[in-house]
Amino acid sequence: MFHDLPAAMTERMAALCAMHEADKTDGTPRFDRLRQISPDTGKFLALLAAQVPAGDWVEVGASAGYSALWLSLAARLRGATLTTYEISARKQALARETFALTGVTDLVHLKEGDALPLLAGHTNLALVFLDAERAILRQCYDLVIPRLVPGGLLVVDNAISHAHEMGEFLAFVPTDPRVDSLIVPIGSGELVCRKVEGV
Ligand SMILES: C[S@@+](CC[C@H](N)C(=O)[O-])C[C@H]1O[C@@H](n2cnc3c(N)ncnc32)[C@H](O)[C@@H]1O
Repeated sequence: MFHDLPAAMTERMAALCAMHEADKTDGTPRFDRLRQISPDTGKFLALLAAQVPAGDWVEVGASAGYSALWLSLAARLRGATLTTYEISARKQALARETFALTGVTDLVHLKEGDALPLLAGHTNLALVFLDAERAILRQCYDLVIPRLVPGGLLVVDNAISHAHEMGEFLAFVPTDPRVDSLIVPIGSGELVCRKVEGV
């Protein structure tokens, strides 16, 4: 997956990383900042995605499409498609541009709007990456877990960097008998939840 990335992909990834670094310090308001995952986290997500059972892939929080590009590498390998949700019009435009420039519009489908009311429309989920606002995290979790196929994965970003804002949620997940879970210290900290068979 990581060998011989097309030039359009490496160039767009580099451009998004540069925008992401710049907007941390240039006064861009938080809502408009890209706040994207690290390159190592992208590789980690792609490695996980390459192993999930059959089913649908969903991302909540596309931003400019950086994490979706990493997931698209696994999607191409697996013959899967990723549906990614983004609520900000500015970022929807950037994500559309990202997916067009890198030639992944057959693999990544951008859904414009609030993911929360639409998650219930998904069934048969094999992979979900939650990377939106902490305020909707538990609601997203409660919608996603019953819709995951056995062995399907839910990955939640910022489980270390923003653990102080996720205390109740992070205390609850290890007690949920429907999933086996672990926080992996990569990037901002990835909470990986695997749906248990037979629940
Ligand atoms: C941390 S950023 C996502 C970064 C992206 N996953 C990446 O690594 O490239 C969070 C994104 O979630 C979006 N967002 C927040 N609430 C949302 C919602 N309810 N539905 C869809 N997108 C939402 C924000 O606009 C923001 O772009």
